Amino acid sequence: MARKGPKPDAARRLLAWYDAHARVLPWRAAPGTRPDPYRVWLSEIMLQQTTVPAVKSYFETFIAKWPSVEALAAASLDDVLKAWAGLGYYARARNLHACAQRVAAAHGGTFPETEAALRALPGIGPYTAAAIAAIAFGGRHAAVDGNVERVISRYHAIETPLPQSKPEIRERAQALVPETRAGDFAQAMMDLGATICTPRQPNCALCPWAEDCRGRIAGIAASLPRKAEKKAIPLRKGVCFWIERADGAVLLRRRPEKGLLGGMMEVPSTAWGQAPPEPAREAPVTAQWQRLPGKVEHTFTHFHLELEVWRATDGGVETPRHEAYRWTPRRELAGEALPSVMRKVIAHALGKEPARRR
Ligand code: ADE
Repeated sequence: MARKGPKPDAARRLLAWYDAHARVLPWRAAPGTRPDPYRVWLSEIMLQQTTVPAVKSYFETFIAKWPSVEALAAASLDDVLKAWAGLGYYARARNLHACAQRVAAAHGGTFPETEAALRALPGIGPYTAAAIAAIAFGGRHAAVDGNVERVISRYHAIETPLPQSKPEIRERAQALVPETRAGDFAQAMMDLGATICTPRQPNCALCPWAEDCRGRIAGIAASLPRKAEKKAIPLRKGVCFWIERADGAVLLRRRPEKGLLGGMMEVPSTAWGQAPPEPAREAPVTAQWQRLPGKVEHTFTHFHLELEVWRATDGGVETPRHEAYRWTPRRELAGEALPSVMRKVIAHALGKEPARRR
């Protein structure tokens, strides 16, 4: 039996669904108004590898602090990193700042409109360039992220596993983009993936594409997209040193500019390696140490990390000579540019649940 393809009115049906059910999100323009490219760009950078609920409050904070790309360009990198802390992947915050400076300096504060010109800016890859070109400027581009891959795999019943299926998914997604309202279409795809065509139990009864979704018709929607087996990621271990002075200041260290969590602050630690750490050799100060019970776990893209926390039990310790170290009063820790893993370490040292920002 020949398999039926999507009906030609697929885009129209999805847009009608979007008109009725679009999520209300702080970066979205009110119906009938032109989106501000700065807001579109800022939200797309924040949404790279971070969920919508996590991004909302950060977006609002950034817009309140820096209402325009020029304002963000004029901010200090340290202030931007502080405001970003908790969103993860700090290279994104550095690129965000570099991109704002480039747009302010080389483009007179106006974002370029084409996908190619957007891609030339720091921190903007193929997905983000397509999303901005479509949402901010109406360009006919498909913005294909993980959600959209799932929707398209199901709609076309693509059984080739990811990542092998990516080129086919891209082509199928692009073919669906309508001549007009490409930005709404991109966001409708995102919303469909986030609210209806969800990973485990797609809610096909409410889906505007149910009638011609090949995955649903074949009864395999929930099992798509198929994925090639993931390689296991390695486990690394380290020890963090919690050193608190009698006046309540805590010793922090700035990480090197280059590399993982570049330029962020951290609770000083041993190297994070596959071999067991050598805390006696790598401690930043000489002290009596008490190992705190339990451990802190965090997963980065390429490895899992397990950290023990060792606390210095003798107060008036010396300051390490290296300029990367500084003392921060406990009550000011929340305002430091500390990555999530370090917020977990601090919470562990203080015997608390990790604080959620705002
Ligand atoms: N994910 C990535 N970009 C998004 C957007 N503009 N709206 C909702 N979810 C998104």
